Amino acid sequence: MLRREFLNGFGLSVGASLLAPSTVLGVQTTTAIGTSHIQPGDWTALRNLFPLTRKYIQLSTFLLASHPKPVADAIEKHRHAFDENPSDYWHHHFETIDRDICTVAGQYMGCEAKNIALTDSTTMGLAMVYSGLQLQPGDEVLQTVHDHYSTDMSLAYRAQRTGAKINRIALYDDPAQVSTDDVLKRMKAAITPNTRVFAATWVHSSTGVKLPIRAMADTISALNKQRKANQQILFCVDGVHGFGIEDQNISELGCDFFIAGTHKWIFGPRGTGLVWGNDKAWAQSEPVIPSFSASYEVWMGGMTQDQVPVGEHMSPGGFHSFEHRWALPEAFKLHLQLGKANVQQRIHQLNQQTKEGLAKMPHVTLYTPAGNELSSGLVCFDVEGVSPADVVKTMHNKGIIMSSTPYRISYARFAPSLLNNEQEIEQALAEIQALA
Ligand SMILES: Cc1ncc(COP(=O)(O)O)c(C=O)c1O
Repeated sequence: MLRREFLNGFGLSVGASLLAPSTVLGVQTTTAIGTSHIQPGDWTALRNLFPLTRKYIQLSTFLLASHPKPVADAIEKHRHAFDENPSDYWHHHFETIDRDICTVAGQYMGCEAKNIALTDSTTMGLAMVYSGLQLQPGDEVLQTVHDHYSTDMSLAYRAQRTGAKINRIALYDDPAQVSTDDVLKRMKAAITPNTRVFAATWVHSSTGVKLPIRAMADTISALNKQRKANQQILFCVDGVHGFGIEDQNISELGCDFFIAGTHKWIFGPRGTGLVWGNDKAWAQSEPVIPSFSASYEVWMGGMTQDQVPVGEHMSPGGFHSFEHRWALPEAFKLHLQLGKANVQQRIHQLNQQTKEGLAKMPHVTLYTPAGNELSSGLVCFDVEGVSPADVVKTMHNKGIIMSSTPYRISYARFAPSLLNNEQEIEQALAEIQALA
């Protein structure tokens, strides 16, 4: 449809979509999108926004978000409009909506919207970044033994295609004893003149260790100052388990690429994620999947590539589950309403309580560092004589949902979040105590 024709027919549906019916929680309501009226730090009110069952204590909500009401309402609004008139609804929004989403994401992240690409998951972002990097045979990528499967495999596939070599290092042996000095020492020792990329993970879902990304970035930056332009090291971070917890502006974290899903701690719609890159990082990347942004207009001959924001150009195109993607701003707005400092304080407090409780139990070995400096929202541990899988099963039978780490060495894992309270943590600790 011609753009003008389409705009002419649009007035009615815009007005209609501002107030949308919702059947979330089984109640028919009319809700103004984006207004949950939640007060900063009101954790009980926050919990009430989630349809999450109360039959269980949920200590694994980071795995995949339950949609809070403002997100669910926005999804419902978009779904309804798409089902009613997909072509018009898409035509009206597609030119501006990704930019609007990135603007809200940028407000939360403390970075420019133009540098954000939208993805469907952490895995898609990692694959996109590592597939798009310009690498030659003989170039080296340094990664760690602590990274997730998705980083490992994205790099392995890339190495197969380019002839680049992957080197792996351990940044610590005993996670509970990790130190910033030792991490920096090991990282520096493993970087060679051929290292072009350093891939790391902010918070390890294998151990709960939170890496000192800023200090690592400063070390890499100092090394880069002594290197020629074609020998620079790019620092790429899988940030998914710090994102939505740590009170951190992403552009000040110091890495060049920051990759995360938004369907875990951020509470965004399932099937959403993003990549932030600084200008230097994007300049060294090539798109992998053609974007359906203004780059399409470049292909048509109506624009030049420099007129397209780089993040939009790098966002994988094709049609998506738009009702989910377009509802993402509501999750960032919710976090901003709660206050980033409050969110960090609350999650750290509940994790501290969990670790202090576990540390007192002689039959428990705690692997996650005790302090918040080098840990965040994940607590990994072992119970003497009980396998992690059996700990998870027994706790489930007691009404507590937790996880075991999906790595070759597996631990039992709690993830105390904004959806928990102090009493729930005490109850979970009491059940672990009962395993003695
Ligand atoms: C460190 C880390 N990176 C990536 C992923 C994959 O995330 P996604 O499901 O968003 O692709 C996970 C899974 O939880 C993870 O723990």
